[in-house]
Amino acid sequence: MPNYPSAVVQSGTAEAGQAYPTLEDTYGRRFQYLRLSVTEICNFRCNYCLPNGYQNVSKPLPLNQVEIDTLLQAFSALGTRKVRLTGGEPATRRDLDTLIAMAKSPPGIQKVALTTNGYNLKQKIASWKQAGLDAINVSVDSLDAAQFSRITGHDILPKVLAGIDRAIELGYSNIKINAVLLQQFNVDQLERFVDWVKHMPVTVRFIELMETSDNRVFFRENRITGESIKSRLMEQGWTEKQRDRFAGPAKEFSHPDYKGNIGLIMPYSKDFCATCNRLRVSSEGKLHLCLFGDSQVDLRPYLLQGDVVGTIRAIRQSLPIKKSGHALHDGYTGSTRHLASIGG
Ligand code: 5AD
Ligand code: SF4
Repeated sequence: MPNYPSAVVQSGTAEAGQAYPTLEDTYGRRFQYLRLSVTEICNFRCNYCLPNGYQNVSKPLPLNQVEIDTLLQAFSALGTRKVRLTGGEPATRRDLDTLIAMAKSPPGIQKVALTTNGYNLKQKIASWKQAGLDAINVSVDSLDAAQFSRITGHDILPKVLAGIDRAIELGYSNIKINAVLLQQFNVDQLERFVDWVKHMPVTVRFIELMETSDNRVFFRENRITGESIKSRLMEQGWTEKQRDRFAGPAKEFSHPDYKGNIGLIMPYSKDFCATCNRLRVSSEGKLHLCLFGDSQVDLRPYLLQGDVVGTIRAIRQSLPIKKSGHALHDGYTGSTRHLASIGG
C-alpha cells in the first residue's frame, strides 16, 4: 500500500474536521455519495442494457485494489460518506470481499452498499456482510420466472429470491429491489410486486427506462412513465415518505398495511437532477460528473501513482464543469452506450 500524508488521511474524519470542504458544485449540490463501478463485465443479458451480453472488447483493465484504495482515500478526504460498488456485475470480481472491506475502511465512510443482479447472492451475502457491507440493491425485473428469464437471459429467479431471503435472515433491513418498467415485458407484473411487499420487508423501486445510445428502438417500444404508477399508488392509499439524508433520487411510498415500501425513480421528471448527490467513477477510473453527459475526467494517471493529493485536486477542479441537469428529454444520451459501462 502506498504511504499517504497523514493530514490527508485524517481529513475526512468527523473528529479531525475536514481539510477540504465537502464537494459542492456551482448549483449548491453537495456530493457525499460515490458510485464506483468495479467492473464492466456482466454475466446477464438484460434486454434494455446488454441484449447480446457483455462483449469482451479490448478495454483497459478495471482499477486494481491499490488504485481503488487511492481513490477511496481521496473521496473520503473530500467528505464522501457513502460508497456504492456497482458494475457491470460487481460480484463477477473475485476480490469483491476485499473491495467491500477497503471501501469501509477510510475514515468518514459510514455506509458501503452494493448493487447486484443477485446471481450469487445466496452463497456470498454472509461473507460480504462480514467484510462490512451495509446495504444491498438487487435487480429483479419480474416476479414471474419465465418473464424474468426473457428479460435477463437467465432462468434463475428462484435463486435470486432465495438470496434476498438469506440477506433478510442475516439482518439486512432495507433491501432495495430495482425493477425497470418495460411496456412489453413486465407491465402486467406491477400489482404482483405490490402484493409481494405486503409481507416482504423490502423496497421495490420501479425505474423508468432510460434511453442510451444502444437501446433507442427498445426504448421507444418500452417506455412507461412513473407518473401513471404514482397515481395508482395514491389511489390505493400509499403516501409519499420524507427523504432521508442519504436518499437517492427515488420517491418512496409507504402503506400501513404493507411491510415493504414502493419507490419510483423518474429520471425524466423535471426536478430529478436538482437533488443529485452523487458522483460516479467508471471501472477504468474515469470520473463521470453525470450518468448522461460527456464530462469525464480521467483519474487513472493519479491512481496509478498512488497520488491521493493529485486525485483530490483533479476531482475538485472538475466539479465546476458539472452541468445543472441531463438533456435526456431531448433524446441526448451523451456518450453512455449502456448502463453496464457505469453502473446505473
Ligand atoms: N434504464 C433504467 N435502468 C437501467 N438499469 C440498467 N440499464 C437501465 C436503463 N437503460 C438499471 C438496472 C439496475 C440498475 C443498476 O440500473 O436494472 O437495477
Ligand atoms: Fe447486467 Fe445490470 Fe446490465 Fe442487467 S442491467 S445486463 S444485470 S449490468
